[in-house]
Amino acid sequence: MKVFSTVHDIQKYLLEINNLHDATVGFVPTMGALHKGHLSLIEAAKKKASITVASIFVNPTQFNDKKDFERYPIQLDKDLEMLLHAGCDIVFVPTVAEIYPNGTLEKTSVPLGFIGKTLEAAHRKGHFEGVLQVVKRLLDIVQPDFLFLGQKDYQQCMVLTQLITHYQLPVQMEICTTLREPDGLAMSSRNMRLSAEERSAALQLSKSLFAIQAAYKTQPLNVLLDDQLQVLASNPLILTEYLTIVNGSTLKPITKYKANIPMVALVAAKVGEIRLIDNVILQ
Ligand code: PAF
Repeated sequence: MKVFSTVHDIQKYLLEINNLHDATVGFVPTMGALHKGHLSLIEAAKKKASITVASIFVNPTQFNDKKDFERYPIQLDKDLEMLLHAGCDIVFVPTVAEIYPNGTLEKTSVPLGFIGKTLEAAHRKGHFEGVLQVVKRLLDIVQPDFLFLGQKDYQQCMVLTQLITHYQLPVQMEICTTLREPDGLAMSSRNMRLSAEERSAALQLSKSLFAIQAAYKTQPLNVLLDDQLQVLASNPLILTEYLTIVNGSTLKPITKYKANIPMVALVAAKVGEIRLIDNVILQ
């Protein structure tokens, strides 16, 4: 496994490989603090492409909360070990200066419409601007054939689809299902910051989503959501930001079940100090 920290070195190596083997490149962008969910993306990339590239870069421009950025878990040696075991071919670990040589103010502007205003966008001002900025830069550097993302960041996947469409980038997005702990908690780098008590409170997020999934065809959606909002509110460690059922293609809220439209239930909540998100695709 090759590890590069400069744009020059990774591009030179990728060019050499491409000239020699006519490789296809699968790219898994990460912010490190890897878990099995990330490794499942590496596994998917290895199946689809001849070369798998992962990046580890905690992008400062996508954090709306300075404390969240400062406390983001960093475990580079462990991450590299995990990537090596997973059979990743290339890891890119750039510095902030390498990603943003002209400073962080130059934004990547993509018209997002409603998906750029709702849910995560409404609760984390500037978050998607930062995600667009860093992913555009990473795609320009790595120039992959396939981009692997996790369904847990449902809205991020939609935003990055817009990025690819807007710039007509020759990359195919592959969305991989959310990996869960045996009890149902969605895997997340942030889980490692939860205390034992918070970890057990956090389980209610997936439980509420599964309760909605079990009943959305038979019970009024507003009743279902109200019930689960109450359950969440009854735990003093949980501060819910949203729990909602939306059209899976537009993110517009859905008030009534209809058989033929894509539906997703999404939740975001702070558990103690840690902000978590999760979702289930209903249909
Ligand atoms: O989902 C993430 O980990 C990040 O938002 C990403 C895509 C690596 C960009 O920094």
